[in-house]
Amino acid sequence: MFQRVKGSYDIVPNSEERWKESGAWQYFEAKARLLSSIYGFQEIRTPIFEHTELFVRGIGEADAVTKEMYTFLDKGERSLSLRPELTASIVRAFIENSLQNKECDRFFYMGPCFRYDRMQKGRYRQFHQFGVELFGPKDPYLDVETIYFLLQLYKSLGLSKISLKINSIGDKEIREEFGKALQSYFAPFAKELSPDSQRRLITNPLRILDSKEECDQAFAKNAPAIAEFLTPYRRTFFEDVLKGLTGLNIPYVIDPTLVRGLDYYCDTVFEVISTSDTGAQNALGGGGRYDGLMKILGGPDLPGFGFATGIERILQSMITENSLPEETDGPTYYFIPLSPASKELSFSLMTSLRDQGKSALLNAKNYNLKKGLALGSNLHAKYAVLIGDEEIGSQIVTVKCLATREEKKVRIDDFLGILV
Ligand code: HAM
Repeated sequence: MFQRVKGSYDIVPNSEERWKESGAWQYFEAKARLLSSIYGFQEIRTPIFEHTELFVRGIGEADAVTKEMYTFLDKGERSLSLRPELTASIVRAFIENSLQNKECDRFFYMGPCFRYDRMQKGRYRQFHQFGVELFGPKDPYLDVETIYFLLQLYKSLGLSKISLKINSIGDKEIREEFGKALQSYFAPFAKELSPDSQRRLITNPLRILDSKEECDQAFAKNAPAIAEFLTPYRRTFFEDVLKGLTGLNIPYVIDPTLVRGLDYYCDTVFEVISTSDTGAQNALGGGGRYDGLMKILGGPDLPGFGFATGIERILQSMITENSLPEETDGPTYYFIPLSPASKELSFSLMTSLRDQGKSALLNAKNYNLKKGLALGSNLHAKYAVLIGDEEIGSQIVTVKCLATREEKKVRIDDFLGILV
């Protein structure tokens, strides 16, 4: 028997785990699409694979690229990679399709991403992101609006146990200066840091700050803060973002250790964590500003801002917070033929209903009334239509409402006309 690849999973109806049920995904997708249209976001769909160079240049030294990317040579010897995230792809698509010449500068996307990561709850090798990217003026209002959008999305999904963490990480030069200060600060305890952080101390000292290892966190707590290195312009920009959040009554926590894993960020960065889930993978979503990325990828020098949120983690949090509605959508009519002869009539009535745009299904498994009614209920059907030999003779069928158990006799001649 074949099995799916480790770190992936199937989304099916009636899954044993509710977050893997297709109905739950459709529920999320409908909410995300609705809110996107309210905020004027238009959809972009990009290929699942791209030239490896796009991610190397766009995302840089991040683990998602250097350690976790699914990279392979195709038959034409091109190095391709499965996308570890979508920001670089969306920027590429924006440039390649000359979208800067069109009116729309705000986009949303949904789809699978791939990271060869250590597996655990909330962390998969194929996972799904919903995200938005905005290209346009560098304006603190844009940061505020986008963060608010994400919080409204969580709210519309019934998630209340969440916390917004925010920071400003300046630009590349500021981070270099800050990195040097961190190297001097951590140097005396270098041997006590985790092996990963000992490596980061040389390659990317900022990443020590967001290490999940306790031994690193103990030292990171008292490390210098990047805020001390921000220029007055960047500090004011950040203060304006915070003011905008306060104006919308959005609670936030300034977290000086929040640096985010991807190289393209500058100024505002943020993360929303689930406080109902105390596990290590509690980041529901995150994002920030990335003003230089479009230029690095060969496009116009347009600032960018966006976020992505993991759909698996959202659905899991909805289950913890009990906000995922029960599946109630089934066919409107469920035909239960009680004999082989009545199956023919049931089939033809079902087909006529479908032709009229009504949803209808037929019990083709048996001719048993009790089993048929149980199947109809399990499918969340609204009405059962019972047809036996007697009904063929009398030309009258029984229509039973499965919720109230009320029954109505209806003449077959009238049947198609009277149904709602
Ligand atoms: P990210 O923080 O790497 O950001 O990922 C965003 C979200 O994707 C995470 O908060 C988490 O919910 C989910 N996620 C990441 N890795 C996994 C995994 N292995 N399994 C399950 N869920 C995962 C980005 O990807 C940026 N592109 C966000 C962004 C957009 N910044 C600006 N625009």
